[in-house]
Amino acid sequence: MRSTISHIKEMKRKGEPVVMLTAYDYPTARIVDQAGIPLILVGDSLGMVVLGYETTIPVTMAEMLHHTKAVVRGSRQALIIGDMPFMSYHLSADDALRNAARFIQEGGAQAVKLEGGVTVADKVKCIVECGIPVMGHIGLTPQSINQLGGYKIQGKTPEAARRLLADALALQEAGSFAVVLETVPSPLASLISRRLSIPTIGIGAGAGCDGQVQVIGDVLGLNPDFNPKHAKPYAQLYDVMSTAVTQYRDEVQSGRFPTERQGFTMDESVISQLEDESS
Ligand code: KIV
Repeated sequence: MRSTISHIKEMKRKGEPVVMLTAYDYPTARIVDQAGIPLILVGDSLGMVVLGYETTIPVTMAEMLHHTKAVVRGSRQALIIGDMPFMSYHLSADDALRNAARFIQEGGAQAVKLEGGVTVADKVKCIVECGIPVMGHIGLTPQSINQLGGYKIQGKTPEAARRLLADALALQEAGSFAVVLETVPSPLASLISRRLSIPTIGIGAGAGCDGQVQVIGDVLGLNPDFNPKHAKPYAQLYDVMSTAVTQYRDEVQSGRFPTERQGFTMDESVISQLEDESS
């Protein structure tokens, strides 16, 4: 039985921290799911972590759906949230609803996430009213990177802080079941978390949020060239994987792999027969 949005909202009421982690494929989803993490986000960070794009902007609906399906197949207990990519919810509420429905019907996700506050509240309301749970995402919203002028901390001035609080309240009012706060000063994230009845899930927003989300590549240490301040690597998988791959190369080149152990035998008479026939 998968986690539900009631379960996630209940966690805030009980003061239990909500844990969310991204996953983009079947084997990683299995690990995250079996670790008992209740929320898996198929983030559009897929574009940067897995597909090698420079930003999340080029990510398409087709790419997101392809990876969402794999994550759903790899999980049993977590609630799967499909991240709506750039321009999949901007044109109209109808368009937003159609694309959100694709994540549920085709992708097999249980919820969607989209970026923005007051300006997308009408779309959130429309999607929620049709029975699709929505997670909001405010603060540093990577799909607006060109407008924001870089990956900067958001909400530092009184006006910007007030705007973020208004965005969070608008998302709650529109029916979101939770809101991601990305790269927001910790005191502001704490204040927003206290003002909302729905859970806030922070990334670079301090310990005062109701939950935390991280990108799986950062948690596993998959990219040695990228160490964001908000992240903590719990492993150095890039090094582990490089060592394994280099060792494999060396063993094939030196004839140490494969050994008899990795081969298969057959009745020798079959080979003798074949040799006789061809001689
Ligand atoms: O795409 C993503 O991984 C995200 C998280 C950073 C919240 O939006």
